[in-house]
Amino acid sequence: MAGLGARPEGCTEGLANLGCSMSHVPAVLSAQGTQALQAAQRSALWAVKRVAMDLQLRLHECQGPGYPRPQAQLLQDPPEPGPCGERKPVAANVTQTHGRIVGGRAAPPGAWPWLVRLQLGGQPLCGGVLVAASWVLTAAHCFVGASNELLWTVVLAEGPQGEQVEEVPVNRILLHPKFDPQTFHGDLALVQLWTPVSPAGSARPVCLPQASSEPPAGTPCSIAGWGALFEDGPEAEAVREARVPLLSPDTCQRALGPGLRPSSMLCAGYLAGGIDSCQGDSGGPLTCSEPGPHPREVLFGVTSWGDGCGEPGKPGVYTRVAVFKDWLQEQMSADASTREPSCMELLAGSPPEENPADTARLCAFYARRCPLSEGACARLARQQCLQRWRRCELRSLAHKLLDLLRRAQELLGVRPVLRRRALTLARPVPSLREPPESAALEQRLNSGPRSSRARFQKRRPEPRGSMNGCPGLEPLRQKLATLQGSHAWILQVPSEQLAMHFQEVLADLSSKTLTGLFRAWVRAGLGGRRVAFSGLVGLEPATLARSLPRLLVQALQAFRSAALAEGQPSELGGA
Ligand code: ARG
Repeated sequence: MAGLGARPEGCTEGLANLGCSMSHVPAVLSAQGTQALQAAQRSALWAVKRVAMDLQLRLHECQGPGYPRPQAQLLQDPPEPGPCGERKPVAANVTQTHGRIVGGRAAPPGAWPWLVRLQLGGQPLCGGVLVAASWVLTAAHCFVGASNELLWTVVLAEGPQGEQVEEVPVNRILLHPKFDPQTFHGDLALVQLWTPVSPAGSARPVCLPQASSEPPAGTPCSIAGWGALFEDGPEAEAVREARVPLLSPDTCQRALGPGLRPSSMLCAGYLAGGIDSCQGDSGGPLTCSEPGPHPREVLFGVTSWGDGCGEPGKPGVYTRVAVFKDWLQEQMSADASTREPSCMELLAGSPPEENPADTARLCAFYARRCPLSEGACARLARQQCLQRWRRCELRSLAHKLLDLLRRAQELLGVRPVLRRRALTLARPVPSLREPPESAALEQRLNSGPRSSRARFQKRRPEPRGSMNGCPGLEPLRQKLATLQGSHAWILQVPSEQLAMHFQEVLADLSSKTLTGLFRAWVRAGLGGRRVAFSGLVGLEPATLARSLPRLLVQALQAFRSAALAEGQPSELGGA
């Protein structure tokens, strides 16, 4: 055996079973692995559901109204869900002009059909405003330090009968390019929903200003949100609303000083104090009603900042929507092919090696400047795309695990406890030089996906009534079958078995890399399935934390390959 490298405390063998020096590592990995599995299952479900809905919509279009229409439309260019800015009559007269808001007044259910809630990792953080079927406008500062769209969801407005609210994943977050986190200039962000809101639901978009002009100072406008009831106070449990008059730029400037930039901010409220938006209301709407036979609510401000909440002489500050209307239009109408594919789009597609047509479609953005579809440029473009794909994959796991990692770090810091435990757990370990019997398994795993794809791609029988006259149906059907096939490994795991067990992590202490990691042999189990693979692991708290996400991705890949490889014999047997 090669000479010993740096040896972590508690390990006496050349080949360290991490269980002996850090007995909790498999446990930490297992907890995170289980979370990763749940995330993988959720995203697989989303991917399949999305195509299934496209398919249903296609059928609906071909067969006419007899065929049920999918709940949400998943077209590239969804029609807007009804006219903008309309409020239910019941809500219109409920808002009182002088209800106190910091401390506030509850809005009746369904009163603000465009008001949404932005959640980070399931925690409500900001408000937002639905401005089109797939777009929510909010404050850019909500994303400072948290710009990973995979972590955000949007909770749509509840209906007038308190209908169940819908939570939609986020596809893309676009911060205004001039947003300055120091000054809050340009405090606007557009959030693209993964699926457009359904015209059948209660969420409705607000109207955007058509011109750059705004209502005059003194106009009573409305604010709404779930923000704090008073400064540093608790968040509201239900939507609250208030009427606040717009103030003139001069008044705002005088009240708030040079921090207020009238070119991009407006202020509204009472100099006497007492009625204002507050923490948690950010990103929510300031709307003014446009009179006429059919009054409409138009979004003139997005809640941005304030000096305290409801303090005398300190009105609330809102980003001026009208001055950014061109940017909004441009972003919402941009052609999908001009944008780098989002992580959601990449991760929802089939894995790159499995469906070349899908991959080419998703990766088209990178090859847009290549003169030929073959050659060095196209190869480079493909590589770029695959790299982003892998980064997205890693990011999706890494970020979901961040929270647990933090806890793991704390745990890893408790060394005396670990050393005492170490003695009881030491046991003989096999050598890395002669990999255990599972080396053969690993080989099989690596050759898995290709061999097994056929198993899951069995074509479904044609439904009654020929669909020959329905163009585009067959490709969708095939896409669905392929997706179901490639995700079957995770979709088929019953939720009660969705737990990953890391049995052991064996590190070769003589194999320290330049980045401080060690080669390791890892064994893990999912349900009745066992896998083993080699990877890199850190033995110090910091390097361990760094190595965990990759190990988890490898474990997921190993399970996937094993599941697919297992499909092979039955396919051959049945042929
Ligand atoms: N910045 C706050 C948020 O993130 C909004 C504060 C509004 N404050 C005010 N006094 N109007 O939720």
